[in-house]
Amino acid sequence: MQTDNGYTALLRADHLTVRYPARKARPGRPSRPSVDAVRDVSLAVDAGEILGVVGESGSGKSSLLRCLMLLERPTAGSIRYHGQELTELTPVELSETRQGMQIVFQNPSASLNPDMSVLQIVSEPLQQLRVGSPRERSGLALEALEKVGISASEAHDRPGHFSGGQKQRIAIARAIVVKPDILFADEAVSALDVTVAARVMDLLRALRDRMGFSMVFVAHDLAVVAALCDRIAVMKDGGLQETGKTADILCRPQAEYTRRLLEAARHTELRR
Ligand SMILES: Nc1ncnc2c1ncn2[C@@H]1O[C@H](COP(=O)(O)OP(=O)(O)OP(=O)(O)O)[C@@H](O)[C@H]1O
Ligand SMILES: [Mg+2]
Repeated sequence: MQTDNGYTALLRADHLTVRYPARKARPGRPSRPSVDAVRDVSLAVDAGEILGVVGESGSGKSSLLRCLMLLERPTAGSIRYHGQELTELTPVELSETRQGMQIVFQNPSASLNPDMSVLQIVSEPLQQLRVGSPRERSGLALEALEKVGISASEAHDRPGHFSGGQKQRIAIARAIVVKPDILFADEAVSALDVTVAARVMDLLRALRDRMGFSMVFVAHDLAVVAALCDRIAVMKDGGLQETGKTADILCRPQAEYTRRLLEAARHTELRR
């Protein structure tokens, strides 16, 4: 499977559309018209590449991300992962295929079980995949925690013991413990302070360099996306405005909307 630039894509979406159906009114719940959250989006992610998806709130970034993992079924279009059409897989085939895909969300406090130790949290995906013995799983979990900067002496603590940035590192450890080939991040640093966010982005890049996975990194802030990503896709109203290498998007934006995002990003940088 060749992309436009001649590389082989790990993940390729063609003409994706996600339409949320209209909802009839019920007592206490207003009606809602149908929404095309993603409109005819085509993109490719190469092996080892970090693709940023940027756009304002409601532009369809999370819907696109969920759809790329088939957590949301597309209304139309195709998603090929390792050349395999995801929309044609049975549920069992899909859950097996999805083992190479992992996701990190915005709010680690909500995604980490407060009653489990971080070692249990990070071991859990291995247990679900029936990898190794309990002892081997603990070893792999400790290794993943070490990669994100959490020491073995902290591994028996519960999430409540850690700061926001550390919690996000634990969520990243849980995602990388199964050695994914693609990581999805939905506003993964948006809830963190600027300096903490910068360190978590450095960590994500270092992990990509070390482990070689691809990443789709979604954020509303172009400055954040540009600091981390190799290529950027700009979304508005569910559609792609443009896709390009980060330097090209920053220096030679084609779409008027991208220029507006750039202007906004410059203001944020200046205020910082
Ligand atoms: N489950 C759903 N059912 C119906 N409409 C939805 C659903 N999820 C999202 N939408 C609508 O789809 C559109 C795109 O939403 P989405 O959450 O994908 O945008 P986003 O770019 O991730 O926004 P944000 O930056 O606020 O996270 C919005 O109009 C939203 O209201
Ligand atoms: Mg979102």
